[in-house]
Formats: sequence, structure tokens, C-alpha cells
Amino acid sequence: MILSIESSCDDSAIAVTEIDTKRLLFHRKISQEAAHAQYGGVVPELASRLHAVDLPRLLGEAKPYLDDLRAVAVTNAPGLSVTLLEGVAMAQALSIAKGIPIIAVNHLKAHIYSLFIEKEARFPMLVLLISGGHTMVLDVRGFDNITILATTMDDSFGESFDKTAKMMGLGYPGGPVIEKLAQKGDPERFTLPIPLLHSPKIAFSYSGIKNAVRLLVEANKPLDEQTKADIAAAFQKAAITHLLHKTKKIFQQTNPRDFAIVGGASANTAVREAFANLCAEFGATLHLAELQYCSDNAAMVGRCGIDAFFLERFSDALSIEVSPRTDKIF
Ligand code: KG4
Ligand code: ZN
Repeated sequence: MILSIESSCDDSAIAVTEIDTKRLLFHRKISQEAAHAQYGGVVPELASRLHAVDLPRLLGEAKPYLDDLRAVAVTNAPGLSVTLLEGVAMAQALSIAKGIPIIAVNHLKAHIYSLFIEKEARFPMLVLLISGGHTMVLDVRGFDNITILATTMDDSFGESFDKTAKMMGLGYPGGPVIEKLAQKGDPERFTLPIPLLHSPKIAFSYSGIKNAVRLLVEANKPLDEQTKADIAAAFQKAAITHLLHKTKKIFQQTNPRDFAIVGGASANTAVREAFANLCAEFGATLHLAELQYCSDNAAMVGRCGIDAFFLERFSDALSIEVSPRTDKIF
């Protein structure tokens, strides 16, 4: 079995997966969302203190499996350094105490593997990763063969939902609350700009939409409930239109047979519908992770760790490093 640990942001999670069958035997997650909600975003210092309390609790629950471990996998990048360190310290202790190898797992690669929990991996695949920290289209051909085809020039897709929610005083995380509110809103009442609409550049940008939302919020203060819903609907429509517009250009160039959406924001129903239509237009098959594995979790870390295990990608327990960086990732 492999024990996996996730602490890259505001979720503490531990999973145990059987290596040969890829069967998930144990998975527990404690989300810190409620603790951060009052601040409108994740407070790193608070997050790391909560991981320090919650990870040992979860490890205690995984105790029945600890005698059968052959490796420990842990997210080491990208993420918040102070929270990654909590998971890595636990993995180091387990590795040294039990004499088992440690596997450093890239968080973005783990999101890709959320598609393969309890399944064989399937490549090649075009993957759209939309989370709080990233917005990327990836050409995924294998464990070690991943190319970034497009990324964001500024804010990420999920982050733009979080900031829109914060501007309207709706708490954190913004994704689910904006999605819900948008269902009650009129997306035509306000018009927001679609970024890079006339640019040939294949990249994403969400700071322009965010600033336009800021101006709308200022101009309509105090916001009544219907105006909040209409802003949410206009924002979500613009955010998805931009995502679709640039991804469609990549579809035109690559004509993928298999396309997947992963990351926390892949739970969004309007996103799923928009890309189901795009896939139908191009005759591609759409792959989605189960809802419970869209947001950060340890099951995807364990599944990614299994492929790393077979490739013997082990790290030295004493020199494993954490990194917040995204640039050199695969
Ligand atoms: O993958 P994830 O759990 O953490 C990161 O790696 O960042 O993604 C969290 C992000 C947050 O920005 C959250 O607002 C967004 O995913 N999100 C959503 C939805 N659910 C979560 N965004 C849009 N619509 C949703 N339903
Ligand atoms: Zn994530």
C-alpha cells in the first residue's frame, strides 16, 4: 500500500491506496474553508497551524494500514510553502521511521491523476486544469510527457470566482457560491469584456474581467440581492466564454480524441455543459473526475504516486524540498 498526504493549500487529506490494484482503501479530508471564509481567502499562517493539528488526527485514523506501507507520497509543489512543509514533514517522519521510500508528487500532475482513481491511466489526453492557482491546457502523453499549451497571464479561473465573491462580500471559496447565485441572475443585464478576444494569443487572462466586476460593484452600491445575482451571472458567462474561446483554438489545432477537465473549478456545472458541447462539436470524449475528487484531495496524490512508484521516482527523505513555483513542473 501507499500512503499519500495532501497539504498544498487549505485541505488536509490522507489516503491509502493498494499499489497493484490501484484500489482506494482509505481517504479522509478535513477542509479549512470555514476557518478562512471570514478573511475572504486562505491565510497561510492559519492554514499551516490547522494542518499541524489535522494531519496527525487523520494519520491516527489510517493506523490500521500503517504496517503494510511500501511507500509514502506527498505533495511538494506547487502550493503554499508553509503548508506544503506540514505534509512533507509528516512524510519524512514516516519514511524514516518505517524505512520506506518517499515520493514527491507535483500537485498539478496529481489533479490530472484525479481522472484515474481506481483506474488505469489513459493517454494521450488534452487536459484543462482549472483551480484556485492555475488555468492551463496541457497536452498529456504520459507520466513524464506533459506540455503546457496555454496558461494564464495573471489571475487563475478559480481565483477570479474567489475575488468576485469577495468583492460582493460572499465569503470564500467563491466558486460554489457564485455558481449558485448565477443561476438566479440575468447574464444579459451587464456586459463584461471577454479578454484577448481579438488577440491571436493562446493564453488566458482574468484580471480584466475582475477589474470590470470591481467597477460594476462600485457603480451599483449598495448591492441588492438581484444585482448580486446578475453580476455573478454576467461574470460567470464572461469567464467561461473566455475559457471556451481559447480552448477551442487548441481543439482546432490538435483535434483531440480525449479531453478532460480537472481541478476544483471543474465541479462547475456551466463549465461542464459548455465543454460537453465543445467536445460534441469536435467528436471528442469528455472525461471528468468524480465531484469529490475535483477539489484538492489525497486520493489523486496516491494514484499519481503509484505511477511514480513503478517508475522508481523516489526522493531522499532528508533532502526533499517544497516549492511554491509553477514554472518548472513536469
Ligand atoms: O483544486 P482546488 O481545490 O485547489 C487548488 O489547487 O487551487 O481549487 C479550488 C478553486 C477555488 O478557487 C474555488 O473557488 C474553485 O476552485 N471552485 C469553483 C467551483 N468550485 C470550486 N469555481 C467555479 N465553480 C465552482 N463550482
Ligand atoms: Zn488543487
